[in-house]
Amino acid sequence: MTTTPSLQVTGLSKTFNRGTANENRVLKNLRFTAKEGDFITVIGGNGAGKSTLLNALSGSLTADTGRIILNGKDVTTQSEEKRARWVSRVFQDPLMGTAPRMTVAENLSLAMHRGEKRLFKRTLHDESRQHFHTLLKQTGLGLETRLDEEVGQLSGGQRQVIAMLMATLKRPELLLLDEHTAALDPKAADMVMKLTQKKVNEERLTTLMITHNMKHAIEYGNRLVMMQAGEIIVDMQGEEKNQLTVERLMQLFQSRTGGEELSDRMMLV
Ligand SMILES: Nc1ncnc2c1ncn2[C@@H]1O[C@H](COP(=O)(O)OP(=O)(O)O)[C@@H](O)[C@H]1O
Ligand SMILES: [Mg+2]
Repeated sequence: MTTTPSLQVTGLSKTFNRGTANENRVLKNLRFTAKEGDFITVIGGNGAGKSTLLNALSGSLTADTGRIILNGKDVTTQSEEKRARWVSRVFQDPLMGTAPRMTVAENLSLAMHRGEKRLFKRTLHDESRQHFHTLLKQTGLGLETRLDEEVGQLSGGQRQVIAMLMATLKRPELLLLDEHTAALDPKAADMVMKLTQKKVNEERLTTLMITHNMKHAIEYGNRLVMMQAGEIIVDMQGEEKNQLTVERLMQLFQSRTGGEELSDRMMLV
């Protein structure tokens, strides 16, 4: 068994508007590691620094200090484009993960060649089509019959399904989900969560999932991290996480933050 963590983060800090009246220390010397296959749900009030953490991990933002080591590779100074070979991301907005004027098959084909230099060809090999057909069929949504439709024709939930498949088509070393079901109705959100669970389990993906849905935070994943004012204030796994209830989580939040109320955006159901 390998003991090298899949992800090692040390001394990660970020301050916005440094030296001005609006100075905002958003990440404060964060340190944590994740094992391969860790599915970490991340919760915290508005402005806690959750998205900033994911931005720093994906390379869309450069931290002021700290190191990010992914499976032994120091990716700290690597560009977002380069890191995209190893790190994939799904956002809240279904419009962000897919190209609307390209077909389902073309979108999936793009994702299959993520991080490769060669030019994208519109003609697809039959093999790839068969592979996409199988993948889509597994989602049970009938999307396998819509390979040649533009993604813009699909519903928000269906687009997030495609975005999720794209993010995992070529196995990422790190999967980052930023409230990727928050814009969906509850039924579509559950469907996308089920697919997320399946992909993470099947591929043993190291995953950070920000959610404002406390039930999802408890129900999914093997580990739960709570952030507040740029710090990790709770990090639990195993039995402790299994035993967790929404009530217990709220108590924990209030005790660790000195009685602060959960933000309105933290949903209880
Ligand atoms: N690019 C930016 N420039 C300035 N301030 C930012 C920027 N991105 C985020 N912030 C601020 O950093 C804080 C943390 O934001 P964020 O990480 O998005 O929080 P969360 O995702 O936990 O709600 C907020 O106060 C936000 O306004
Ligand atoms: Mg956020």
